Amino acid sequence: MFTIRKDINWNEPHQCLIIGVFDKPAKLVGLAKEADEKLDGQLTALVKDGDISSKKKAVSRIHTLGRLGTKKLLFVGLGKEKELTFESLREAFGKALKSLKDARLTSVSVLIDSFITDELDVLDTGHAFGEAFALANYEFAGYKQKSNEVQKEISEIIVYSDSEPEEVSSAMQVGLIFGKATNSARNLVNIPGNLLTATDLANYSKELASKYGFELEVLEKEDMIELGMGALLAVNQGSEQPPKLIVLKHQGKEEWKDAIALVGKGITFDTGGYSLKTKTGIVGMKTDMGGAAAVLGAMEIIGELRPEQNVVAVIPSTDNMISGNAFKPDDVITSMSGKTIEVLNTDAEGRLVLADAVTYAKQHGAGYIIDIATLTGGVITALGYDMTGAMTNDEALFEQVLEASYEAGEPIWRLPITEKDKERVRGSKIADLNNSPGSAGHAIMGGAFIGEFAEDTPWVHLDIAGTSVSEKATDLGTAGGTGVMARTLAILVERFDMDE
Ligand code: BES
Ligand code: ZN
Ligand code: ZN
Repeated sequence: MFTIRKDINWNEPHQCLIIGVFDKPAKLVGLAKEADEKLDGQLTALVKDGDISSKKKAVSRIHTLGRLGTKKLLFVGLGKEKELTFESLREAFGKALKSLKDARLTSVSVLIDSFITDELDVLDTGHAFGEAFALANYEFAGYKQKSNEVQKEISEIIVYSDSEPEEVSSAMQVGLIFGKATNSARNLVNIPGNLLTATDLANYSKELASKYGFELEVLEKEDMIELGMGALLAVNQGSEQPPKLIVLKHQGKEEWKDAIALVGKGITFDTGGYSLKTKTGIVGMKTDMGGAAAVLGAMEIIGELRPEQNVVAVIPSTDNMISGNAFKPDDVITSMSGKTIEVLNTDAEGRLVLADAVTYAKQHGAGYIIDIATLTGGVITALGYDMTGAMTNDEALFEQVLEASYEAGEPIWRLPITEKDKERVRGSKIADLNNSPGSAGHAIMGGAFIGEFAEDTPWVHLDIAGTSVSEKATDLGTAGGTGVMARTLAILVERFDMDE
């Protein structure tokens, strides 16, 4: 897919050459400057006149009218050089690549050195390009009988750089891996509930395990009964579909210790149970396994890059349905940890399945736990659709997650859990905990509940109810599943350093 070259032949008939242009002062560097010279300074003139915009994320396409072998030049505005971040570079590449895809090109060439700054070296720019390429090209195939005419795809990328070709190529490949894994997570989120049951998620995980050599364990209903997973089983009680608890292990250290547990909510459809959702609120609940998708996306990256860390992925999966046998408000259930739970709301099911999954992760030697879940509508009220809500019992672990999220361009914002909040989840008159202590601080109540099961193990909870699906297309993707947190989790694992 990627061909890396040092020298350029200006007579070669590229379909399109992508070039970066900085703002204030507007400047063309390296091979871009050479192109300008070939065109007797016309490019500089066009930049000055504003026909080629150097404003951040502006995309300008010009025809070379036969004066270069390349038919078209595509300029990507980068704004002020000092202010360019990895994130805005990725978005700028996404926008440029989307426009070329729409123009039905099959091969593009890029002068990658024209995007380098003091802060962003060729490894960063290569990664950003590879990732943007995968993300911007993503489309969910869907199920229409008559699919639109076969879309032409960009299948060849020629990269020009003065740097070591191996270095450029591996940066591009890593970016591509990150982007593709995010797309896998997007796909899982977009598949409807009738076509993605807990069994389907387990089968998908099986394929991932055999591709990457992960150790795999899938707990069946009978195993859960034996282990006393009363919380997960309660949520599954009204379903025709058997529940699954999926465990994938990547051992990157000699000894199995200090494992990072990635625990993802895998509710394949959430009706709300007897605390039934409204007819509008229920639509879209096929995406209630976005946490599981993020974890599986991260495992794909981990499988490709094989970091020297121990990782255990745990996915509790079922749908949340109604039947004569379904669990009800007022029921009291016993979780695997032994803690009893008064169910006040069957729609607060995510925290129940996660409770048993967190306990199971601890039994599997988890030294650190990150749980990821489309847990509450409350987090949307608190933070909107751009920020993932985060809660923790450990400052140092939270710092690590925060840095990873920043690097991935997937922002998180911390919410507190106070002692009074904990008292509220412990406030049942007849059980140890209650799963819905009222609407004040909804998102926090969800986090505080799961924290009761993490206990002393360092833990971060990520509520992605607002970020796992996007209503609109962005520079780097379509409307629908975003695959959020797959990259953050993979970066967290790759960089993990807790001074053990
Ligand atoms: N799956 C929902 C949360 C959700 C809402 C995800 C909107 C994506 C978009 C979750 O299981 C739920 O229903 N949470 C309730 C909790 C409440 C009953 C305590 C909520 O947030 O309303
Ligand atoms: Zn629910
Ligand atoms: Zn849910």
